[in-house]
Amino acid sequence: MVYLVKHIITAALPYAYSIPHLGNFVGSILPADVYFKYLNLKGEDAIFICGSDQHGTPIELKAIQAKKSPEELSEEMHRTINELFAGFECSFTHYGKTHSEKNKEEVYEIFNALKEGGYIKEVERTQAYCNFDKRFLIDRLIEGTCPYCGYKSAKGDQCDNCGKVLDAKDLISPMCMMCGRSDISFLAVKALAIALDKLEKEIKSFIMENSKNNWPKTVTNKSLSFISSGLQPRDITRNMSWGFKVPEKGFEDSVFYVWFDALIGYIGITREWDEKRWKDYWISNETKLIQFMGKDNLEFHAVMWPGMLIGSGLGFALPTTLKASEYLTFKSMKFSKSKGTGIDLRDALRILDADYWRFALMYLYPETADTDFSFEMLQEIVNSIMNDKIGNLVQRVFKLCYMHKETISEGMMLEQYRPKIDEIIEQYKDRFEKLELREALRSLIGLAELGNQIVSESKPWELAGSDNESFSRIMNTLKEIVYDIGILIYPFSPNASRKILESFSIDKEPNMGMLLENIRINLKKDPEPIFRKIKDKDIQQELQDKG
Ligand code: 2FM
Ligand code: ZN
Repeated sequence: MVYLVKHIITAALPYAYSIPHLGNFVGSILPADVYFKYLNLKGEDAIFICGSDQHGTPIELKAIQAKKSPEELSEEMHRTINELFAGFECSFTHYGKTHSEKNKEEVYEIFNALKEGGYIKEVERTQAYCNFDKRFLIDRLIEGTCPYCGYKSAKGDQCDNCGKVLDAKDLISPMCMMCGRSDISFLAVKALAIALDKLEKEIKSFIMENSKNNWPKTVTNKSLSFISSGLQPRDITRNMSWGFKVPEKGFEDSVFYVWFDALIGYIGITREWDEKRWKDYWISNETKLIQFMGKDNLEFHAVMWPGMLIGSGLGFALPTTLKASEYLTFKSMKFSKSKGTGIDLRDALRILDADYWRFALMYLYPETADTDFSFEMLQEIVNSIMNDKIGNLVQRVFKLCYMHKETISEGMMLEQYRPKIDEIIEQYKDRFEKLELREALRSLIGLAELGNQIVSESKPWELAGSDNESFSRIMNTLKEIVYDIGILIYPFSPNASRKILESFSIDKEPNMGMLLENIRINLKKDPEPIFRKIKDKDIQQELQDKG
Protein backbone atom coordinates (compact mmCIF):
# COMPACT_ATOMS: atom_id res chain seq x y z
CA MET A 1 0.00 0.00 0.00
CA VAL A 2 1.32 3.48 -0.82
CA TYR A 3 0.81 6.18 1.78
CA LEU A 4 1.16 9.78 0.71
CA VAL A 5 0.93 11.31 4.14
CA LYS A 6 4.23 11.81 5.91
CA HIS A 7 4.02 12.04 9.67
CA ILE A 8 6.46 13.94 11.82
CA ILE A 9 5.91 13.11 15.47
CA THR A 10 7.76 15.29 17.94
CA ALA A 11 8.01 15.41 21.70
CA ALA A 12 9.16 18.57 23.50
CA LEU A 13 12.94 18.48 23.76
CA PRO A 14 13.98 17.88 27.37
CA TYR A 15 16.59 20.22 28.85
CA ALA A 16 19.84 18.35 29.17
CA TYR A 17 20.76 19.29 32.71
CA SER A 18 18.81 16.88 34.89
CA ILE A 19 17.09 13.56 34.57
CA PRO A 20 13.47 14.03 33.49
CA HIS A 21 10.82 12.91 35.93
CA LEU A 22 7.68 10.94 35.26
CA GLY A 23 5.70 14.17 34.90
CA ASN A 24 7.84 15.25 31.92
CA PHE A 25 7.78 11.78 30.46
CA VAL A 26 4.02 11.30 30.53
CA GLY A 27 3.41 14.82 29.21
CA SER A 28 5.31 14.48 25.95
CA ILE A 29 7.72 11.66 25.18
CA LEU A 30 5.64 8.71 26.28
CA PRO A 31 2.41 9.66 24.46
CA ALA A 32 4.44 10.63 21.38
CA ASP A 33 6.15 7.24 21.44
CA VAL A 34 2.86 5.41 21.97
CA TYR A 35 1.33 7.23 19.02
CA PHE A 36 4.40 6.64 16.87
CA LYS A 37 4.26 2.93 17.65
CA TYR A 38 0.59 2.94 16.66
CA LEU A 39 1.50 4.54 13.31
CA ASN A 40 4.12 1.83 12.89
CA LEU A 41 1.47 -0.81 13.58
CA LYS A 42 -0.51 0.71 10.74
CA GLY A 43 2.53 0.79 8.48
CA GLU A 44 2.37 4.57 8.04
CA ASP A 45 5.27 6.68 6.83
CA ALA A 46 6.34 8.36 10.06
CA ILE A 47 9.40 9.70 11.85
CA PHE A 48 9.71 10.38 15.56
CA ILE A 49 12.00 13.31 16.37
CA CYS A 50 13.21 14.37 19.78
CA GLY A 51 16.46 15.27 21.48
CA SER A 52 18.28 17.34 24.05
CA ASP A 53 17.61 21.03 24.53
CA GLN A 54 21.17 22.05 25.39
CA HIS A 55 21.13 25.82 25.61
CA GLY A 56 19.69 28.18 28.17
CA THR A 57 20.63 29.58 31.53
CA PRO A 58 19.80 26.65 33.81
CA ILE A 59 22.39 24.57 31.97
CA GLU A 60 24.94 27.34 32.22
CA LEU A 61 24.20 27.65 35.90
CA LYS A 62 24.51 23.89 36.53
CA ALA A 63 27.76 23.85 34.60
CA ILE A 64 29.20 26.63 36.76
CA GLN A 65 28.25 24.66 39.85
CA ALA A 66 29.73 21.44 38.45
CA LYS A 67 32.90 23.20 37.22
CA LYS A 68 32.32 21.97 33.70
CA SER A 69 31.60 23.70 30.43
CA PRO A 70 27.90 23.83 29.51
CA GLU A 71 28.72 21.75 26.45
CA GLU A 72 30.44 19.03 28.48
CA LEU A 73 27.66 18.92 31.04
CA SER A 74 24.88 18.80 28.49
CA GLU A 75 26.68 16.13 26.42
CA GLU A 76 26.98 13.90 29.48
CA MET A 77 23.38 14.43 30.43
CA HIS A 78 22.34 13.82 26.84
CA ARG A 79 23.87 10.35 26.89
CA THR A 80 22.33 9.50 30.27
CA ILE A 81 18.86 10.66 29.26
CA ASN A 82 19.06 8.90 25.92
CA GLU A 83 19.93 5.62 27.66
CA LEU A 84 17.05 6.02 30.06
CA PHE A 85 14.60 6.55 27.21
CA ALA A 86 15.95 3.40 25.59
CA GLY A 87 15.28 1.65 28.91
CA PHE A 88 11.70 2.88 28.58
CA GLU A 89 11.49 1.27 25.13
CA CYS A 90 11.18 4.57 23.27
CA SER A 91 11.83 4.18 19.58
CA PHE A 92 12.90 7.57 18.29
CA THR A 93 13.82 7.80 14.65
CA HIS A 94 16.45 10.18 15.92
CA TYR A 95 17.23 11.53 19.39
CA GLY A 96 19.47 14.46 18.54
CA LYS A 97 20.75 17.66 20.09
CA THR A 98 20.16 21.38 19.68
CA HIS A 99 23.86 22.30 20.00
CA SER A 100 24.77 20.72 16.68
CA GLU A 101 26.18 22.02 13.41
CA LYS A 102 23.01 21.10 11.53
CA ASN A 103 20.80 22.93 13.98
CA LYS A 104 23.05 25.98 13.86
CA GLU A 105 22.80 26.02 10.08
CA GLU A 106 19.03 25.81 10.33
CA VAL A 107 18.85 28.54 12.97
CA TYR A 108 20.86 30.88 10.75
CA GLU A 109 18.79 30.00 7.71
CA ILE A 110 15.52 30.78 9.46
CA PHE A 111 16.92 33.90 11.12
CA ASN A 112 18.15 35.25 7.77
CA ALA A 113 14.86 34.44 6.09
CA LEU A 114 12.94 36.21 8.84
CA LYS A 115 15.24 39.20 8.48
CA GLU A 116 14.76 39.32 4.74
CA GLY A 117 11.02 39.15 5.20
CA GLY A 118 11.18 42.18 7.48
CA TYR A 119 10.21 40.26 10.60
CA ILE A 120 13.29 40.98 12.71
CA LYS A 121 13.57 44.26 14.51
CA GLU A 122 15.93 45.82 16.96
CA VAL A 123 14.36 46.62 20.29
CA GLU A 124 15.41 48.38 23.44
CA ARG A 125 14.90 46.35 26.55
CA THR A 126 15.53 46.70 30.17
CA GLN A 127 17.36 43.69 31.49
CA ALA A 128 17.88 42.64 35.06
CA TYR A 129 21.39 43.09 36.40
CA CYS A 130 22.49 41.65 39.70
CA ASN A 131 24.57 44.24 41.49
CA PHE A 132 26.03 41.59 43.76
CA ASP A 133 27.04 39.03 41.08
CA LYS A 134 27.86 41.82 38.60
CA ARG A 135 26.19 40.08 35.68
CA PHE A 136 23.09 40.34 33.56
CA LEU A 137 20.42 37.98 34.68
CA ILE A 138 18.56 36.03 32.10
CA ASP A 139 14.86 35.74 32.75
CA ARG A 140 15.01 32.24 34.14
CA LEU A 141 17.52 33.37 36.73
CA ILE A 142 14.96 35.58 38.36
CA GLU A 143 12.25 34.28 40.59
CA GLY A 144 9.35 36.14 42.06
CA THR A 145 5.60 36.20 42.47
CA CYS A 146 3.47 35.87 39.34
CA PRO A 147 1.43 39.03 38.74
CA TYR A 148 -1.39 36.96 37.21
CA CYS A 149 -1.92 34.02 39.56
CA GLY A 150 0.15 34.86 42.62
CA TYR A 151 2.36 31.75 42.32
CA LYS A 152 5.43 32.46 44.46
CA SER A 153 8.11 30.72 42.35
CA ALA A 154 7.35 32.17 38.92
CA LYS A 155 10.40 32.57 36.68
CA GLY A 156 11.27 35.76 34.81
CA ASP A 157 10.15 34.32 31.46
CA GLN A 158 7.13 32.28 32.40
CA CYS A 159 4.95 31.23 35.28
CA ASP A 160 5.10 27.46 35.59
CA ASN A 161 1.81 27.50 37.43
CA CYS A 162 -0.54 29.40 35.11
CA GLY A 163 1.63 29.05 32.00
CA LYS A 164 1.60 32.80 31.23
CA VAL A 165 4.66 34.12 29.45
CA LEU A 166 6.10 36.91 31.59
CA ASP A 167 8.43 39.83 31.49
CA ALA A 168 10.95 39.71 34.35
CA LYS A 169 10.21 43.24 35.45
CA ASP A 170 6.57 42.41 36.00
CA LEU A 171 7.42 39.88 38.71
CA ILE A 172 6.50 40.96 42.20
CA SER A 173 9.53 40.88 44.57
CA PRO A 174 12.07 39.62 42.00
CA MET A 175 15.11 37.77 43.36
CA CYS A 176 18.42 36.71 41.78
CA MET A 177 18.65 32.94 41.79
CA MET A 178 22.45 32.91 41.78
CA CYS A 179 22.94 34.75 45.04
CA GLY A 180 19.41 34.79 46.44
CA ARG A 181 19.50 38.58 46.88
CA SER A 182 17.03 41.17 45.72
CA ASP A 183 19.76 43.68 44.79
CA ILE A 184 18.64 43.89 41.17
CA SER A 185 18.72 46.84 38.75
CA PHE A 186 16.99 46.92 35.40
CA LEU A 187 19.35 48.37 32.73
CA ALA A 188 18.77 49.35 29.10
CA VAL A 189 20.08 46.82 26.53
CA LYS A 190 19.54 46.08 22.83
CA ALA A 191 17.92 42.89 21.60
CA LEU A 192 16.56 41.45 18.38
CA ALA A 193 12.94 40.45 18.32
CA ILE A 194 10.63 38.61 15.97
CA ALA A 195 7.79 40.89 14.94
CA LEU A 196 4.89 38.69 16.00
CA ASP A 197 2.68 41.77 15.75
CA LYS A 198 3.13 41.67 11.97
CA LEU A 199 2.29 37.97 11.89
CA GLU A 200 -0.77 38.19 14.08
CA LYS A 201 -3.30 37.56 11.34
CA GLU A 202 -1.45 34.52 10.03
CA ILE A 203 -0.97 33.05 13.50
CA LYS A 204 -4.63 33.51 14.26
CA SER A 205 -5.74 31.77 11.09
CA PHE A 206 -3.25 29.00 11.74
CA ILE A 207 -4.89 28.37 15.13
CA MET A 208 -8.43 28.65 13.73
CA GLU A 209 -7.70 26.30 10.83
CA ASN A 210 -5.42 23.70 12.32
CA SER A 211 -7.22 23.36 15.62
CA LYS A 212 -9.84 21.42 13.66
CA ASN A 213 -7.33 18.56 13.58
CA ASN A 214 -8.00 16.93 16.93
CA TRP A 215 -6.58 19.65 19.14
CA PRO A 216 -7.82 19.11 22.69
CA LYS A 217 -10.45 21.78 23.46
CA THR A 218 -8.35 23.21 26.27
CA VAL A 219 -5.44 23.61 23.85
CA THR A 220 -7.52 25.49 21.29
CA ASN A 221 -9.00 27.76 23.94
CA LYS A 222 -5.68 28.51 25.54
CA SER A 223 -4.05 29.13 22.17
CA LEU A 224 -6.74 31.63 21.27
CA SER A 225 -6.41 33.30 24.65
CA PHE A 226 -2.67 33.79 24.08
CA ILE A 227 -3.40 35.98 21.08
CA SER A 228 -6.67 37.55 22.21
CA SER A 229 -5.13 40.81 23.37
CA GLY A 230 -2.84 41.25 20.38
CA LEU A 231 0.76 40.20 19.85
CA GLN A 232 3.97 42.04 20.64
CA PRO A 233 7.43 41.49 19.17
CA ARG A 234 9.24 38.75 21.12
CA ASP A 235 12.95 38.76 21.86
CA ILE A 236 15.02 36.08 20.23
CA THR A 237 18.43 37.13 21.57
CA ARG A 238 19.97 37.29 25.01
CA ASN A 239 23.05 38.90 26.53
CA MET A 240 24.93 35.75 27.41
CA SER A 241 27.63 33.49 26.03
CA TRP A 242 26.25 29.92 25.97
CA GLY A 243 24.32 29.35 22.77
CA PHE A 244 24.58 30.17 19.08
CA LYS A 245 26.18 33.55 18.40
CA VAL A 246 23.94 36.14 16.79
CA PRO A 247 25.40 36.97 13.33
CA GLU A 248 24.70 40.71 13.53
CA LYS A 249 26.87 43.73 14.04
CA GLY A 250 26.42 45.13 17.51
CA PHE A 251 25.27 41.78 18.91
CA GLU A 252 28.67 40.16 19.40
CA ASP A 253 27.90 39.56 23.07
CA SER A 254 24.54 37.98 22.40
CA VAL A 255 23.33 34.51 21.58
CA PHE A 256 19.98 33.30 20.32
CA TYR A 257 17.35 32.76 22.97
CA VAL A 258 17.08 29.10 23.95
CA TRP A 259 13.48 28.76 22.75
CA PHE A 260 14.35 30.10 19.31
CA ASP A 261 16.90 27.38 18.62
CA ALA A 262 15.02 24.68 20.56
CA LEU A 263 11.94 25.03 18.36
CA ILE A 264 14.09 25.08 15.26
CA GLY A 265 15.75 22.02 16.83
CA TYR A 266 12.84 19.90 15.60
CA ILE A 267 14.02 20.65 12.08
CA GLY A 268 17.74 20.69 12.91
CA ILE A 269 17.50 17.26 14.53
CA THR A 270 15.69 15.88 11.49
CA ARG A 271 18.55 17.21 9.36
CA GLU A 272 20.98 15.58 11.74
CA TRP A 273 19.08 12.32 11.18
CA ASP A 274 19.23 12.44 7.40
CA GLU A 275 20.46 15.37 5.37
CA LYS A 276 18.94 13.89 2.22
CA ARG A 277 15.48 13.03 3.49
CA TRP A 278 14.61 15.74 6.01
CA LYS A 279 13.00 17.96 3.39
CA ASP A 280 10.67 15.19 2.25
CA TYR A 281 9.06 15.52 5.67
CA TRP A 282 9.40 19.19 6.54
CA ILE A 283 8.70 20.73 3.17
CA SER A 284 5.69 18.92 1.83
CA ASN A 285 1.97 19.54 1.59
CA GLU A 286 1.37 15.94 2.59
CA THR A 287 2.97 16.32 6.02
CA LYS A 288 1.17 15.83 9.29
CA LEU A 289 3.21 17.42 12.05
CA ILE A 290 1.95 16.16 15.40
CA GLN A 291 3.61 17.73 18.41
CA PHE A 292 3.37 16.46 21.97
CA MET A 293 4.20 18.66 24.96
CA GLY A 294 3.20 19.63 28.46
CA LYS A 295 0.83 22.58 28.82
CA ASP A 296 3.63 24.86 30.04
CA ASN A 297 5.20 24.60 26.56
CA LEU A 298 2.02 25.45 24.69
CA GLU A 299 2.41 29.18 24.19
CA PHE A 300 5.77 28.82 22.44
CA HIS A 301 4.36 26.14 20.15
CA ALA A 302 1.06 27.87 19.43
CA VAL A 303 2.32 31.41 18.83
CA MET A 304 6.06 31.92 18.40
CA TRP A 305 6.75 28.66 16.51
CA PRO A 306 4.11 29.08 13.79
CA GLY A 307 5.13 32.74 13.62
CA MET A 308 8.72 31.70 12.93
CA LEU A 309 7.72 29.12 10.35
CA ILE A 310 5.28 31.35 8.50
CA GLY A 311 7.53 34.42 8.70
CA SER A 312 10.50 32.51 7.26
CA GLY A 313 8.54 31.91 4.06
CA LEU A 314 10.61 28.76 3.56
CA GLY A 315 7.59 26.51 3.12
CA PHE A 316 7.89 24.46 6.29
CA ALA A 317 4.95 22.38 7.43
CA LEU A 318 2.98 23.96 10.26
CA PRO A 319 1.90 21.92 13.27
CA THR A 320 -1.17 19.91 12.33
CA THR A 321 -1.94 19.03 15.92
CA LEU A 322 -0.64 20.50 19.15
CA LYS A 323 -1.21 17.83 21.71
CA ALA A 324 -0.50 19.60 24.98
CA SER A 325 -1.21 17.60 28.10
CA GLU A 326 -2.23 18.74 31.52
CA TYR A 327 -0.04 17.87 34.51
CA LEU A 328 0.50 14.59 36.25
CA THR A 329 0.74 15.67 39.86
CA PHE A 330 2.27 13.92 42.83
CA LYS A 331 0.25 14.41 45.98
CA SER A 332 -1.47 17.30 44.18
CA MET A 333 1.84 19.07 43.49
CA LYS A 334 3.59 19.44 40.19
CA PHE A 335 6.35 16.86 39.71
CA SER A 336 9.56 18.73 40.34
CA LYS A 337 12.92 17.19 40.94
CA SER A 338 14.29 20.37 42.47
CA LYS A 339 11.46 20.52 44.96
CA GLY A 340 11.87 16.83 45.78
CA THR A 341 8.41 15.86 44.58
CA GLY A 342 7.88 13.00 42.20
CA ILE A 343 10.03 10.27 40.73
CA ASP A 344 12.71 10.59 38.09
CA LEU A 345 13.16 8.16 35.24
CA ARG A 346 16.15 6.41 36.77
CA ASP A 347 14.37 5.76 40.06
CA ALA A 348 11.31 4.64 38.15
CA LEU A 349 13.20 1.92 36.28
CA ARG A 350 14.64 0.68 39.55
CA ILE A 351 11.12 0.20 40.86
CA LEU A 352 9.44 -1.41 37.84
CA ASP A 353 10.16 -2.40 34.24
CA ALA A 354 9.25 -0.11 31.37
CA ASP A 355 6.13 -2.04 30.36
CA TYR A 356 4.44 -1.39 33.71
CA TRP A 357 5.23 2.31 33.73
CA ARG A 358 4.22 2.83 30.14
CA PHE A 359 0.86 1.16 30.68
CA ALA A 360 0.12 2.72 34.07
CA LEU A 361 1.20 6.21 33.00
CA MET A 362 -0.89 6.06 29.84
CA TYR A 363 -3.80 4.84 31.96
CA LEU A 364 -3.37 8.06 33.96
CA TYR A 365 -2.32 10.25 30.98
CA PRO A 366 -3.50 13.73 31.98
CA GLU A 367 -5.10 14.28 28.62
CA THR A 368 -7.87 16.63 29.65
CA ALA A 369 -7.28 17.47 33.32
CA ASP A 370 -4.51 17.34 35.91
CA THR A 371 -4.32 13.84 37.33
CA ASP A 372 -2.80 12.81 40.62
CA PHE A 373 -0.32 9.96 40.77
CA SER A 374 0.16 7.76 43.83
CA PHE A 375 1.91 4.48 44.50
CA GLU A 376 -1.38 2.98 45.64
CA MET A 377 -2.87 3.85 42.27
CA LEU A 378 0.11 2.36 40.49
CA GLN A 379 -0.31 -0.85 42.47
CA GLU A 380 -4.01 -0.94 41.66
CA ILE A 381 -3.42 -0.53 37.91
CA VAL A 382 -0.65 -3.13 37.82
CA ASN A 383 -2.43 -5.69 39.99
CA SER A 384 -6.04 -5.49 39.00
CA ILE A 385 -5.79 -4.41 35.38
CA MET A 386 -2.46 -5.54 33.98
CA ASN A 387 -2.08 -8.70 36.00
CA ASP A 388 -5.66 -9.78 36.75
CA LYS A 389 -7.48 -8.67 33.64
CA ILE A 390 -4.83 -9.09 30.96
CA GLY A 391 -2.01 -11.28 32.31
CA ASN A 392 -4.28 -13.89 33.89
CA LEU A 393 -6.45 -14.16 30.78
CA VAL A 394 -3.43 -14.75 28.56
CA GLN A 395 -1.93 -17.29 30.97
CA ARG A 396 -5.20 -19.14 31.41
CA VAL A 397 -5.86 -19.42 27.71
CA PHE A 398 -2.33 -20.62 26.97
CA LYS A 399 -2.54 -23.23 29.74
CA LEU A 400 -5.90 -24.56 28.61
CA CYS A 401 -4.67 -24.76 25.03
CA TYR A 402 -1.66 -26.72 26.18
CA MET A 403 -3.61 -29.11 28.42
CA HIS A 404 -6.17 -29.89 25.73
CA LYS A 405 -4.14 -29.54 22.60
CA GLU A 406 -5.46 -32.81 21.15
CA THR A 407 -9.07 -31.78 21.74
CA ILE A 408 -9.20 -28.37 20.06
CA SER A 409 -10.11 -28.44 16.39
CA GLU A 410 -9.02 -25.35 14.53
CA GLY A 411 -11.26 -22.98 12.64
CA MET A 412 -14.55 -22.93 14.52
CA MET A 413 -15.38 -19.90 16.66
CA LEU A 414 -18.22 -18.53 18.74
CA GLU A 415 -19.54 -16.42 15.90
CA GLN A 416 -21.74 -14.31 18.17
CA TYR A 417 -18.63 -12.64 19.61
CA ARG A 418 -17.10 -11.71 16.28
CA PRO A 419 -18.96 -8.37 15.90
CA LYS A 420 -18.11 -7.38 19.47
CA ILE A 421 -14.40 -8.10 18.94
CA ASP A 422 -14.41 -6.12 15.69
CA GLU A 423 -16.26 -3.26 17.34
CA ILE A 424 -13.67 -2.98 20.12
CA ILE A 425 -10.81 -3.04 17.63
CA GLU A 426 -12.53 -0.33 15.58
CA GLN A 427 -13.01 1.75 18.70
CA TYR A 428 -9.33 1.33 19.58
CA LYS A 429 -8.31 2.56 16.12
CA ASP A 430 -10.82 5.38 16.08
CA ARG A 431 -9.58 6.66 19.43
CA PHE A 432 -5.99 6.57 18.24
CA GLU A 433 -6.97 8.46 15.08
CA LYS A 434 -8.48 11.15 17.31
CA LEU A 435 -5.34 11.10 19.44
CA GLU A 436 -7.38 9.99 22.45
CA LEU A 437 -4.61 7.76 23.67
CA ARG A 438 -5.85 7.21 27.19
CA GLU A 439 -9.17 6.04 25.80
CA ALA A 440 -7.49 3.78 23.24
CA LEU A 441 -5.87 1.97 26.15
CA ARG A 442 -9.30 1.52 27.70
CA SER A 443 -10.50 -0.12 24.47
CA LEU A 444 -7.65 -2.60 24.76
CA ILE A 445 -8.63 -3.31 28.36
CA GLY A 446 -12.20 -3.76 27.10
CA LEU A 447 -11.02 -6.54 24.82
CA ALA A 448 -9.46 -8.35 27.79
CA GLU A 449 -12.69 -7.84 29.73
CA LEU A 450 -14.61 -9.48 26.92
CA GLY A 451 -12.22 -12.44 27.07
CA ASN A 452 -12.70 -12.75 30.82
CA GLN A 453 -16.45 -12.55 30.42
CA ILE A 454 -16.40 -15.41 27.89
CA VAL A 455 -14.26 -17.50 30.25
CA SER A 456 -16.48 -17.00 33.25
CA GLU A 457 -19.75 -17.45 31.35
CA SER A 458 -18.76 -20.52 29.38
CA LYS A 459 -16.40 -22.30 31.82
CA PRO A 460 -14.53 -24.03 29.00
CA TRP A 461 -12.68 -26.49 31.28
CA GLU A 462 -16.00 -28.17 32.07
CA LEU A 463 -16.58 -28.89 28.38
CA ALA A 464 -13.24 -30.38 27.39
CA GLY A 465 -13.75 -34.07 26.73
CA SER A 466 -17.54 -33.90 26.96
CA ASP A 467 -18.45 -31.35 24.28
CA ASN A 468 -15.38 -30.90 22.16
CA GLU A 469 -17.06 -28.78 19.52
CA SER A 470 -18.22 -26.12 21.97
CA PHE A 471 -14.90 -26.33 23.74
CA SER A 472 -13.04 -25.73 20.47
CA ARG A 473 -15.25 -22.81 19.56
CA ILE A 474 -14.69 -21.14 22.92
CA MET A 475 -10.95 -21.75 22.89
CA ASN A 476 -10.50 -20.51 19.36
CA THR A 477 -12.38 -17.33 20.23
CA LEU A 478 -10.24 -16.80 23.31
CA LYS A 479 -7.05 -17.51 21.39
CA GLU A 480 -8.06 -14.89 18.85
CA ILE A 481 -8.72 -12.35 21.58
CA VAL A 482 -5.35 -13.04 23.22
CA TYR A 483 -3.62 -12.79 19.86
CA ASP A 484 -5.33 -9.45 19.12
CA ILE A 485 -4.30 -8.18 22.55
CA GLY A 486 -0.74 -9.23 21.71
CA ILE A 487 -0.82 -6.90 18.71
CA LEU A 488 -2.79 -4.00 20.14
CA ILE A 489 -0.88 -3.78 23.41
CA TYR A 490 2.31 -3.09 21.47
CA PRO A 491 2.23 0.75 21.64
CA PHE A 492 1.69 0.62 25.40
CA SER A 493 3.69 -2.37 26.62
CA PRO A 494 5.94 -3.59 23.82
CA ASN A 495 7.57 -6.38 25.86
CA ALA A 496 4.22 -7.88 26.80
CA SER A 497 3.36 -7.78 23.12
CA ARG A 498 6.57 -9.65 22.27
CA LYS A 499 5.92 -12.28 24.93
CA ILE A 500 2.36 -12.92 23.78
CA LEU A 501 3.25 -13.04 20.11
CA GLU A 502 6.17 -15.36 20.75
CA SER A 503 3.61 -17.93 21.86
CA PHE A 504 2.10 -17.55 18.40
CA SER A 505 5.53 -18.16 16.81
CA ILE A 506 5.87 -14.52 15.79
CA ASP A 507 9.16 -12.82 16.43
CA LYS A 508 8.84 -9.72 14.25
CA GLU A 509 7.40 -6.31 15.15
CA PRO A 510 3.62 -6.58 14.91
CA ASN A 511 1.40 -4.78 12.40
CA MET A 512 -2.33 -4.31 11.99
CA GLY A 513 -2.41 -6.60 8.97
CA MET A 514 -1.60 -9.48 11.29
CA LEU A 515 -5.02 -9.10 12.93
CA LEU A 516 -6.48 -10.79 9.87
CA GLU A 517 -3.93 -13.56 9.55
CA ASN A 518 -4.52 -17.13 10.57
CA ILE A 519 -2.96 -17.82 13.90
CA ARG A 520 -0.80 -20.70 14.84
CA ILE A 521 -0.16 -21.19 18.51
CA ASN A 522 3.15 -22.45 19.77
CA LEU A 523 2.38 -24.16 23.03
CA LYS A 524 4.54 -24.39 26.07
CA LYS A 525 3.75 -26.19 29.30
CA ASP A 526 4.49 -23.19 31.45
CA PRO A 527 4.37 -19.99 29.44
CA GLU A 528 6.07 -17.08 31.13
CA PRO A 529 3.63 -14.75 32.92
CA ILE A 530 3.04 -11.53 31.04
CA PHE A 531 2.80 -9.35 34.14
CA ARG A 532 3.37 -9.79 37.85
CA LYS A 533 1.65 -8.16 40.79
CA ILE A 534 3.23 -5.52 42.97
CA LYS A 535 3.35 -6.85 46.53
CA ASP A 536 2.11 -4.74 49.41
CA LYS A 537 5.53 -4.84 51.04
CA ASP A 538 7.14 -3.33 47.94
CA ILE A 539 4.68 -0.51 47.82
CA GLN A 540 5.15 0.11 51.55
CA GLN A 541 8.87 0.46 50.87
CA GLU A 542 8.28 3.09 48.17
CA LEU A 543 5.80 4.93 50.35
CA GLN A 544 8.39 5.09 53.11
CA ASP A 545 11.09 6.30 50.75
CA LYS A 546 9.03 8.83 48.84
CA GLY A 547 6.41 9.69 51.42
O1 2FM B 1 10.33 22.91 28.79
C1 2FM B 1 11.26 22.28 28.30
O2 2FM B 1 11.70 21.25 28.83
C2 2FM B 1 11.89 22.75 27.02
N1 2FM B 1 13.22 22.25 26.93
C3 2FM B 1 11.04 22.29 25.87
C4 2FM B 1 11.54 22.70 24.54
S1 2FM B 1 10.46 22.15 23.37
C5 2FM B 1 11.06 22.58 21.89
F1 2FM B 1 10.95 23.79 21.63
F2 2FM B 1 12.21 22.15 21.71
ZN1 ZN C 1 22.67 37.76 42.42
